[in-house]
Amino acid sequence: MVLSDRRGPTREALLALPSAGLGTWPTPLHRLDRFGAAIGAEVWIKRDDVQGVALAGNKIRKFNLVIGQAMADGCDTLVTTGAIQSNSARTGASAAAATGMDCHLVLSGEPPDTAEGGPGPTANLLLDHLVGATIHHAVDASWVELNQQVDDLVAELNAAGRRAFAAPIGCSSPLGSLGFARALLELEAQLAIADVTPSAIVHTTTSGGTHAGLLVGRALMAPDSRLAGVPIIGVDAGRLYDDVAAQHWALAVEAAALIGLDLAADLSGDVTLVHDQVGDAYGAHTEASTEAIELLARTEAVIVDPVYSAKGLAGLIALVRSGDLGDSDSRDPIVFWHTGGYHALFDPHHGSPLVRHRH
Ligand SMILES: Cc1ncc(COP(=O)(O)O)c(C=O)c1O
Repeated sequence: MVLSDRRGPTREALLALPSAGLGTWPTPLHRLDRFGAAIGAEVWIKRDDVQGVALAGNKIRKFNLVIGQAMADGCDTLVTTGAIQSNSARTGASAAAATGMDCHLVLSGEPPDTAEGGPGPTANLLLDHLVGATIHHAVDASWVELNQQVDDLVAELNAAGRRAFAAPIGCSSPLGSLGFARALLELEAQLAIADVTPSAIVHTTTSGGTHAGLLVGRALMAPDSRLAGVPIIGVDAGRLYDDVAAQHWALAVEAAALIGLDLAADLSGDVTLVHDQVGDAYGAHTEASTEAIELLARTEAVIVDPVYSAKGLAGLIALVRSGDLGDSDSRDPIVFWHTGGYHALFDPHHGSPLVRHRH
């Protein structure tokens, strides 16, 4: 069967997936006139940072599907994971609270100083506490170990009579990733209204669900769609895997299979990633990410965070400056997908260095 025969039914299958129904859709799409002029390109922004559930970001698209399915299965407890300042964990905890579920978070990194006079939990971790999540600190655990601890905790909770379910790092399960296949359909409709045909979509990537979902969404585009074959460029912010592209592609193939689409047959490994914005390590400040944060804030009053979205934006700026994107004669529009996550700015490790270096 060829793709064109399946596009209708697979779109229907995607749209029929149960959802927790959280968030406000569509997220805004608008042009960044001053920022675009500053870097010499036409840039549009898809604002997944503007959201209704505890200031959610990209993960709410994934948790909507994962919790939606869990609700349909009669589950009552979400177990998920991430680093101590994880946006994904915070979004999961918030989504659980907003759907009346319990939530357990397994978080790596140093627990906060809760001694008298110490700062206590800040930023995302503060929100985790506020929405009532139970926190399990797994200080030195690797990403793989975190996912394993989630599975162990689910088993333990179920043995104690709960109906628990797991969401992995970044909520990048195949089902969660399909949230971004839906997101691309949302963008397609907005671009039609704005009469914009983008030359590329640029976004931050780590655990891969966003990228994988967008690839599935692109495979659902009709040949005459504004998004048919559009380059989707993931700017790696973490090098989470030995072979990031292979992991993202495998996730896309698995996600596509859930809606009856054989992606492997249709697209043959079409993952486009750049890895030169990571810096010294996941979460590290770089000159380019600091410039991206300051430029977008000063020209548009839109905020990106140093761990994730600033890395994506820094990647976009670098691609424009190198002439690989947004040719200044044709001014081809580029869409920057703002994946949210500015909360980390309010954590002393991530936010303060940005202004301290000026004094
Ligand atoms: C704000 C933000 N942007 C981008 C990403 C990367 O998305 P993905 O995990 O789907 O690759 C994350 C993941 O945590 C994030 O929090």
